[in-house]
Amino acid sequence: MAGLTHPSLVILSGAGLSAESGVATFRGADGLWEGHRIEDVATPEAFKTQPELVHRFYNMRRASLKTVEPNAAHDALVRLEREWPGPFLHITQNVDDLNERAGARKLLHMHGQLRQVRCTWCRAVLTWDGDLETSSACPECARAGKLRPDIVWFGEMPYYIDEIMRALETVDIFLCIGTSGVVYPAAGFARLAAEHGCARLIEMNLERTGISDHFTEQRHGAATVVVPALVGELLSAS
Ligand code: APR
Repeated sequence: MAGLTHPSLVILSGAGLSAESGVATFRGADGLWEGHRIEDVATPEAFKTQPELVHRFYNMRRASLKTVEPNAAHDALVRLEREWPGPFLHITQNVDDLNERAGARKLLHMHGQLRQVRCTWCRAVLTWDGDLETSSACPECARAGKLRPDIVWFGEMPYYIDEIMRALETVDIFLCIGTSGVVYPAAGFARLAAEHGCARLIEMNLERTGISDHFTEQRHGAATVVVPALVGELLSAS
């Protein structure tokens, strides 16, 4: 970190980043998991036994993306991505497209994306903005009934794990924004980064979480307030 190289930055974001845009979080009052049982809509078993219900859940969430916009926290992270002089990586657990709509490029969707579907037959991954039905045909292989939301469900392996692990080995500043820290492996990233020698770990959330002890700093408050403020601080010190 000292000398000629610039510090590397890794960000992990969760549903709290998009909450003020109007995207529902998962846990807590009004959270998605208050109104739906995880095992009914977010597991491979649910998709096998009740595909219509699973499609309805993700169709609703996909459609609701058209009613929301990126907020000041998404914008600030894009400013950080563009102006940070060292290595930068934003890992998001969010399946919305608000980071890319704000302009993010160095972004990994470790839990998949609402606006993508994939074919379980030919493995094609496709952009998909409308509703997905059990009868929908894959535009690549033409088979019907083989498309699924490109969402990492409970019991499935998150995407980009190798790339993420490599980034955590060399990260100098780790930021965590709006995640409750209960879903692994993401919930373990702060501890892993610290074990690899990361000395500055900042958690941004409305409140303390089950993983707060792994951080060296806390910024409590709404993401649209605390994230732009921290980005300003980091850039003026870089
Ligand atoms: N600003 C900052 N933090 C916020 C805000 C806000 N405006 N609103 C909510 N939060 C915080 C909450 O305090 C909570 O800790 O965001 C967190 C949201 O937690 P969850 O709803 O559990 O979402 P997340 O941590 O992203 O969930 C992880 O669980 O169900 C799976 O795959 C799903 O990716 C998701 C994963």
